[in-house]
Amino acid sequence: MDQAGGYADYAFVADLYDFVVPYSGRPDVDFFVEAALESGGPVLEVGCGTGRVLIPTARAGVMITGLDLSTHMLAVCRERLAEEPAEVQARAQLVEGDMRDFELGRTFALATIPFRPFQHLTTVEDQMACLRTIHRHLEPDGKLILDLFNPSLAVLTRDNVGQEVGEEPPFTMPDGRRVLRRSKIVSRDYSEQVNRSELIYYVTYPDGNQERLVHAFPMRYLFRFEAEHLLARCGFEVEALYADYDKSPYGTKYPGELIFVARKIED
Ligand SMILES: C[S@@+](CC[C@H](N)C(=O)[O-])C[C@H]1O[C@@H](n2cnc3c(N)ncnc32)[C@H](O)[C@@H]1O
Repeated sequence: MDQAGGYADYAFVADLYDFVVPYSGRPDVDFFVEAALESGGPVLEVGCGTGRVLIPTARAGVMITGLDLSTHMLAVCRERLAEEPAEVQARAQLVEGDMRDFELGRTFALATIPFRPFQHLTTVEDQMACLRTIHRHLEPDGKLILDLFNPSLAVLTRDNVGQEVGEEPPFTMPDGRRVLRRSKIVSRDYSEQVNRSELIYYVTYPDGNQERLVHAFPMRYLFRFEAEHLLARCGFEVEALYADYDKSPYGTKYPGELIFVARKIED
């Protein structure tokens, strides 16, 4: 099995991740916490990263298991959890594993994949392996929230391949490093529906030294009906489809997000 999209580079990203402005301000946390509370738990978060969603969920009183392939992202998550009260720590469990093939020996009321880790999977085989593995880990009638970006036709055909662009404000790390992040589409493969991207971090140390760190990874985009068919092939029925974390129905904004709430329908 190939390594999934660029996760090894999460090694240096893990350190910076929680400070990246669009990540720290991402408006999805309440949506996932509310869904976790509604489910009653336990929740499985696939690709939990540094705990951006997992920790608020545990704080809200829900038992949650986070699975991630990156030792480094999980290490940051563990450090963050260690600062939480004992009862919050007791509600969270972390597991290192690959979303395409894991066995936790238990089932969950809800599985979530917040902020697009699923799109690191670039083949239908990997996508189905992941969905079927999650399916096995759901209770009867358990739900899955699959969080994807909605591919914008205008953005997909934009003539910016190879250009480094970025409008994000710089941010400062607790140790004084100043970081400016930019991005680049390296290539677009329209037949495979895969964009190869780079996120480029320009880091300036307090002593003036500079470094340029590159997180390179492929992202597979899925269109609405393709994702619905994929879910159906893997034993899920779509219950709701949202364009945003405020639950705006799909189609009310473009491109918006592609957020599926799907129910397990067969064993
Ligand atoms: C954009 S981050 C999202 C983290 C978190 N869900 C959030 O909302 O902040 C993507 C995460 O997916 C993880 N990931 C990528 N490929 C994976 C795989 N095959 N199995 C498990 N996790 C994977 C990465 O290590 C990373 O932590």
